[in-house]
Amino acid sequence: MIIAPSLLAGNHAAFGKDAIRASKSGADWLHLDIMDGHFVPNISFGPQVVKAVRPLSKLFFDVHLMCAKPEILLDAFAKAGANEMIIHVELGDQVEPLIWKIKNLGKKVGLAVNPPTHISHAQPFLDKIDLLLVMTVNPGFGGQEFIHECLPKIQQADAWRRERQLPYRISVDGGINDQTAAECARAGADTFVAGTSLFGSRNLKAAVTRMRNAVHAADPALADLKV
Ligand code: DX5
Ligand code: ZN
Repeated sequence: MIIAPSLLAGNHAAFGKDAIRASKSGADWLHLDIMDGHFVPNISFGPQVVKAVRPLSKLFFDVHLMCAKPEILLDAFAKAGANEMIIHVELGDQVEPLIWKIKNLGKKVGLAVNPPTHISHAQPFLDKIDLLLVMTVNPGFGGQEFIHECLPKIQQADAWRRERQLPYRISVDGGINDQTAAECARAGADTFVAGTSLFGSRNLKAAVTRMRNAVHAADPALADLKV
């Protein structure tokens, strides 16, 4: 399993400190939420912040682009040190060329699906991606309630993965805490992005361990799953 604290819930006056905190917490990845004020009604941070925190952490940087025009940012995030870039399936015709552009940059590719979007929209791309991100809140803000209606999408994504023997990870993002992470693990998720529940706790290391144990208890097979 992968536990990925989301820096959005960190201290925006001290991202470097929180990237170091995440690195020492036993977490597997660092999730970086990029919001452009168009695709979502909020703005977060850009490639310069990613570049600035990159030397402070060896964690895999999972960059989630909630952006209407990711094509103008891919080069900059690749250079800044992203390991994976996630784009949204809601971008329609742009999805396929964006996937190839990210691959050509030598980065892993993720595809995200918002709560109102049917999971079938992701189906044509499943053999081209490294990760499918099932959004479990409407993106734009941290600290929202987990939307339980998204669970069947995880089950469907897992069923497709088994049927077609594809290697993509299934990630969940939004309202993830120990309990909802366990529910998602039972539905088939293996990658858990959590902002508020992890960075909000005083002891990040203990919080990451608790989440890992909750997921492990829900699905013991995930303990051995490697990146
Ligand atoms: C939501 C972002 C999430 C966010 C999750 O728009 O994509 O990654 O950081 O935050 P929590 O865990 O607080 O819901
Ligand atoms: Zn995210």
